[in-house]
Amino acid sequence: MRILNIAAALLVAATMVAPVSAAQETSQRTVLVTGANRGIGLEFVRQYAGKGYRVIAACRKPADAEALNGLAKDNPSILVEQLDLEDLAGIDALAGKYAGQPIDVVINNAALMRGPDKGQSFGSIDYAMFDEFFHTNVRGPLKVAEAFWPHAKASGEKMVVLLTTGQGARGIPVPGFAYYKSSKAAIDNLYMDIGRHGKKDGVRVLTLIPGRVATHGERQTPGMVPVEESVRGMIAVMEGATLEQNGRSYLWNGEESLGLPRP
Ligand SMILES: NC(=O)c1ccc[n+]([C@@H]2O[C@H](COP(=O)([O-])OP(=O)(O)OC[C@H]3O[C@@H](n4cnc5c(N)ncnc54)[C@H](OP(=O)(O)O)[C@@H]3O)[C@@H](O)[C@H]2O)c1
Repeated sequence: MRILNIAAALLVAATMVAPVSAAQETSQRTVLVTGANRGIGLEFVRQYAGKGYRVIAACRKPADAEALNGLAKDNPSILVEQLDLEDLAGIDALAGKYAGQPIDVVINNAALMRGPDKGQSFGSIDYAMFDEFFHTNVRGPLKVAEAFWPHAKASGEKMVVLLTTGQGARGIPVPGFAYYKSSKAAIDNLYMDIGRHGKKDGVRVLTLIPGRVATHGERQTPGMVPVEESVRGMIAVMEGATLEQNGRSYLWNGEESLGLPRP
């Protein structure tokens, strides 16, 4: 009985660490999207799947990802994977699962946005909330870029992007969103550095601003961009990007954002 239990445990462990099998490997172009279960991430999945890509659609809670699972059910090229950006070992494990397989486009889309204002004001800082924002919005996408760098470098398209906001750095001075704005400013700066590194490795690195997109049930008001249009635009920016542009930031419509100095 004990031997059977050990054998079963070994089988489970082997399944957990086993890289994707050769049969699952493919010459199809591949994109990785974080935060793929809703909002802009889900639209990236939809559009890249429509373009014939294999999509590694990563999200925190696959079991709850109803819309994403619905898409994956009808398209075997959409692979739903669990990934929490706060979990560094989990990021390494997912990269390990796809070791040796090129990933053409790595899209760091997931982020924490607003959060309660309480705890984000100087004098009553909630440090646990601060850590959650900075682990998710800064450390996570930094680690994703490092862990998936070999996959991007080995691919045809060699593209790594981060979704960011004009509210980072010294951009739009709207009140609130303190940890969102400051965490995006930090990761923007880090991606400028990754862009420099990319020039050496031939990997294209950009930050992209989707515009104001109604992803939380807001009413579509003038100045907002429909999610389909925003994502279509960002894909066009990526497709046209050259190494020369590395580390720079672009709006969904291709306009360069000069919120930060050029690298
Ligand atoms: N919408 C806009 O107007 C706008 C404007 C400028 C920039 N952006 C940027 O565009 C990106 C997408 O925006 P959105 O509006 O689509 O966001 P959203 O609807 O709020 O979705 C955020 C996504 O990030 C995921 N996420 C949060 N914490 C995570 C963690 N620890 N690990 C893994 N995933 C995590 C969420 O997963 P759960 O469902 O599990 O929470 C969700 O999938 C973000 O980077 C955002 O900063 C958006």
